[in-house]
Amino acid sequence: MASHKDEAVDSPLRGSDAAQVSRQSWITRRFPFLKKKRGIAILVIVVLVIIGGGLAGLAALPKRGNADSADGSSGSGSDTITSDTHFYGESPPVYPSPNMPGAGPWASSFAKAHALVLNMTLSEKISLTAGASSNTSCSGFIPSIRRLKFPGLCLSDAGNGLRATDFVSTWPSGIHVGASWNKALARDRGAGMGGEFKTKGVNVLLGPVVGPVGRLVVGGRNWEGFSVDPYLAGALVFETVAAIQGAGVITSTKHFIGNEQETNRNPKGDVEAVSSNIDDQTLHELYLWPFQDAVHAGSGNIMCSYNRLNNSYGCANSKTLNGILKTELGFEGFVVSDWGAQHAGIATALAGLDMMMPGAGSFWGDKLETAVQNGTVPESRITDMVTRTIAAWYQMGQDKGFPIPGVGMASDMTKPHNMVDARNSSFRPTLLDGAVEGHVLVKNIRDALPLKKPKMLSIFGYSAKNPDQNTPTGGISPWTFGASSFNYTEFSGNFFGLSDAVGNTPIAFNGTLYSGGGSGATSQSTVIAPFDALVQRAYDDGTALFWDFVSGEPPVNQGSTACLVFGNAYATEGADRPDVQDGYTDNLVKHVAARCNNTVVVLHNAGIRLVEDFIDHPNVTAVFFAHLPGEASGRAIVSLLYGDENPSGKLPYTIARDAKDYPVLGPDQPEGAFTRFPQSNFSEGVFIDYRHFDAKNITPRYEFGFGLSYTTFEYGNLSVQKADNESFAPYPTGEIREGGQVDLWDVLVKVSAEVKNAGRRDGAEVVQLYVGIPEAGQPVRQLRGFEKVVLSGNVTTPETVHFELTRRDLSVWDVVAQKWWLTKGEYKVEVGGSSRNLPLAGKVVV
Ligand code: BGC
Repeated sequence: MASHKDEAVDSPLRGSDAAQVSRQSWITRRFPFLKKKRGIAILVIVVLVIIGGGLAGLAALPKRGNADSADGSSGSGSDTITSDTHFYGESPPVYPSPNMPGAGPWASSFAKAHALVLNMTLSEKISLTAGASSNTSCSGFIPSIRRLKFPGLCLSDAGNGLRATDFVSTWPSGIHVGASWNKALARDRGAGMGGEFKTKGVNVLLGPVVGPVGRLVVGGRNWEGFSVDPYLAGALVFETVAAIQGAGVITSTKHFIGNEQETNRNPKGDVEAVSSNIDDQTLHELYLWPFQDAVHAGSGNIMCSYNRLNNSYGCANSKTLNGILKTELGFEGFVVSDWGAQHAGIATALAGLDMMMPGAGSFWGDKLETAVQNGTVPESRITDMVTRTIAAWYQMGQDKGFPIPGVGMASDMTKPHNMVDARNSSFRPTLLDGAVEGHVLVKNIRDALPLKKPKMLSIFGYSAKNPDQNTPTGGISPWTFGASSFNYTEFSGNFFGLSDAVGNTPIAFNGTLYSGGGSGATSQSTVIAPFDALVQRAYDDGTALFWDFVSGEPPVNQGSTACLVFGNAYATEGADRPDVQDGYTDNLVKHVAARCNNTVVVLHNAGIRLVEDFIDHPNVTAVFFAHLPGEASGRAIVSLLYGDENPSGKLPYTIARDAKDYPVLGPDQPEGAFTRFPQSNFSEGVFIDYRHFDAKNITPRYEFGFGLSYTTFEYGNLSVQKADNESFAPYPTGEIREGGQVDLWDVLVKVSAEVKNAGRRDGAEVVQLYVGIPEAGQPVRQLRGFEKVVLSGNVTTPETVHFELTRRDLSVWDVVAQKWWLTKGEYKVEVGGSSRNLPLAGKVVV
């Protein structure tokens, strides 16, 4: 059979002209409001450059890869690959695009959508396949069809709260939710967020994020997702999707798939976007896993990603869209492109893309209509695109009583506008609990914490206080993209695609962090910084308070009962982080610790942050990874520091002793023959984070799943039982429904364990279950269950915790059968409080 590469089918619209149009206009396609007025676009860029220190700043932007000359030709001579045909066939072709199944819980929405779409003309259908301009600040907007009483759709960012508008909450970010290991809290947060999006008239919430998974330790967007572990991310995304959609808002689970590095995420000049080259087994067992959970939860939308996957663009990849998502996982909803992620017209339509954002761009719109009229794209494909979209709208009940799309999304908040307060006071406890539970205490010696009415506190570090500005402007600004505490020139250079490189500055030195930066940032309405809450507490207690947020080497009052140092690790969309630690903050900590024998460190870390430089200092008595807590940040840290709350967060990643201990630290760069087609080979397979540390027997500083409490817990009585009346056949045989074959979710093994609070203080423990699958090449252990249990102090009777292991939990992906395969043999089952503290061990033979 002839090799049939995805993009190759798009011959009418491919070629250098189309590519030129596509790349030159990337900024305007990403930000359509710039396109409306070209002059403004130029002005914005000029302003960015001026802010950045003039033209010298532009010249200083790093060069792309190894390209020596402006035309992208490289020093590697004739070996340089110049044509995409070189890669054809690396991503297998899967055609035609499957129609929406309309099965099970979707049957009724499908029937209604089918009926409505039957009444649409071709032009009307085409109008629903791409974004249009609107007078709202929605990130994307699908126009109405008045004749059919279809009101249109507002799509807006993002997974940590509604961005770029007023009267919304700043929820804890994905990484913070991951660190809480609390499914119920993830569900409550989803319900709260969903309610706010709905009140503002947002039909589609552009989140949650489960790609990136976090392969790169310094990945710029890892903080938007929950964890580097697919099971933890999958369990939390399931709850999040179910809850947001339960509130009537469609989730756009993103970015599908392999979107692991920001560097070269988009094509630029004659350099294509990076290709994540992932083998089939790794794809299923790691990168697809949490997406599968999101689809299983009913996610009505999936966003395809900027990167290439096995050298086929994420939004033109028939294997991942038609094959995996729409066939293997039985996805019922529609696929939207990431903003400007379309680089071909017919190919994307045939590969399974259903909606282009933010506009039809150079490829769809009239051209898609022509392609239907000349028979290149079957009209049935357009009908399916629109049926999937309209069905999702019905499925969330948006046809009845949903606000006007974008009603609360003023395009310019400096002008008089309709003020729609979306906040719901009944979710305030969720915002606070969420902020509290994502803090992870990793060191606490000499009873440093909790604080007991300290006589004198000294507070240091740039991450203790609010940034000096929290105000929207008429257009784009640091506020719009969570860059108020950071260096905006650097942020915008990366984010707007002016430079496609690793960011330079590792910290946000102008204030505390509530979220990271970029489209996943949050918009603060009311926030409380650590310093705000500390002042109040100190005032009530009569504690003397001193502070210095600006000095790198501040004077220290020797009478301090404790010194608190607040630092951070910034991360943003558009750039990967430059490092896993920073000298400025490390020096600040060491400087204070040399003068204060009770130094408590709090790091707002938007990703993994190493602490080797100061962790063993005898005067560093306590350390918190404070992640990105959202608007209740200050209240949360004060309640933890003073012991009103007991820390219960656990690391959703591994903290190494040495950056070199990680299998993949930074981004791949265009190089050698691949200067124009950057390649990222995921050759480590599933062995990232703790799977790698376990396999190579490397001792981390703090292992995956680790976190301290002010009490201690004891484990006992493990029981592992095979379920009765279940099939243990090697392959699932069930029909495909959302998420895959239905019997993948059959419970084959039941586990229980006892845990008790061995101290006097009330606390909560995350009981973790790991499984060792008896198959060569599998990790030593993998997380396959967790429950957060609240345990009262001074209670000697243990609680019993129950786990259910499904067929998928115990299976490996069989690349030949193209099914999950239940291995025969003795499975190891371990239970405990972290991936390296597993006091209970048992087994089960399957
Ligand atoms: C991001 C998406 C986001 C979209 C809309 C893109 O740059 O990658 O995550 O939803 O913009 O703002």
